[in-house]
Amino acid sequence: MEHERPDPVDTGRRRRVLITGAAGQLGAALREGFDSDDVTALGRREWDVSEPPGDALSQGTFDLVLHAAAWTDVDDAEHDPQGAAAVNVGGTAHAAALGAPLLTFSTDYVFDGSKRLPYVESDGPAPLSVYGRTKLQAEAAAGEDAWIVRTSWLFGATGRNFVRTMLRLAGERDEVAVVDDQRGCPTYVGHLAAAVRRLVDAGLPRGVWHLAAAGDCTWADFAEAIFEDAGLDCRVRRIASEELARPAPRPAYSVLRSERPGAPVLPHWREGLRECLAVLAESPG
Ligand SMILES: NC(=O)c1ccc[n+]([C@@H]2O[C@H](COP(=O)([O-])OP(=O)(O)OC[C@H]3O[C@@H](n4cnc5c(N)ncnc54)[C@H](OP(=O)(O)O)[C@@H]3O)[C@@H](O)[C@H]2O)c1
Repeated sequence: MEHERPDPVDTGRRRRVLITGAAGQLGAALREGFDSDDVTALGRREWDVSEPPGDALSQGTFDLVLHAAAWTDVDDAEHDPQGAAAVNVGGTAHAAALGAPLLTFSTDYVFDGSKRLPYVESDGPAPLSVYGRTKLQAEAAAGEDAWIVRTSWLFGATGRNFVRTMLRLAGERDEVAVVDDQRGCPTYVGHLAAAVRRLVDAGLPRGVWHLAAAGDCTWADFAEAIFEDAGLDCRVRRIASEELARPAPRPAYSVLRSERPGAPVLPHWREGLRECLAVLAESPG
């Protein structure tokens, strides 16, 4: 299929793409998804986004900035709101200050979870946690001219995520207690990176986009699917969030769908799980 390029003038050269947070799970998937571009991938060591970009970066001419760096520890953010804001809000403002077309990532945790139908882009946000508030402020810091991709419950073959945690726990015990009163869309980072690429390549308009896996489930359903698909003999004990007593409140329902014309559609979360497990089977890491 022929794709229209977004902003860059067609000079015949490869698109120059900057990826922040490149060592994170989404950053790794974006590197793969944009591997036909001229990619500069920066981890925290190369650019701590809570600091303004150095001269070398500011003078660089990027055709696209994929801003995946973020403070993602939802519970820790409750204890250090300023630290979380410095990375999430300050970092996004710094990424926007590069002056290149910006695509940044936000979260289902900008919603309070009181709805029982999927959240669409025109629904009003009302974050319950410090993390959710910093990400909502980050959306504003990105500016009206950015693509803001809200996604949810990310997992992949690298980094810290629910799938890898469940696989580890299944090796240590024969039962895990998992919350069954939060419903969302577990989204495979490889599928998200591909959808982001389609969004940009199709030249779809800026603004907020909801991009999350098809289907929905609770964390307990997800855990059972992980054990089933990985062939592991581990039971799931379904518990209420209260029992875990985590510092940050989470929305009880945060299924995301897009109401925008032409929005990329992601595969079902179960398909994402199968792909992730296949990658892990090839390189357990
Ligand atoms: N994970 C989810 O379930 C989820 C759900 C919805 C939306 N999102 C959003 O999706 C995006 C990507 O998340 P992810 O799951 O890939 O998270 P991740 O694996 O935690 O990756 C985030 C990366 O950002 C880096 N980082 C943290 N502080 C930084 C700083 N000051 N300067 C530069 N880099 C810094 C982290 O480095 P260190 O490892 O050194 O800290 C990490 O490599 C984020 O915007 C997140 O809010 C995530």
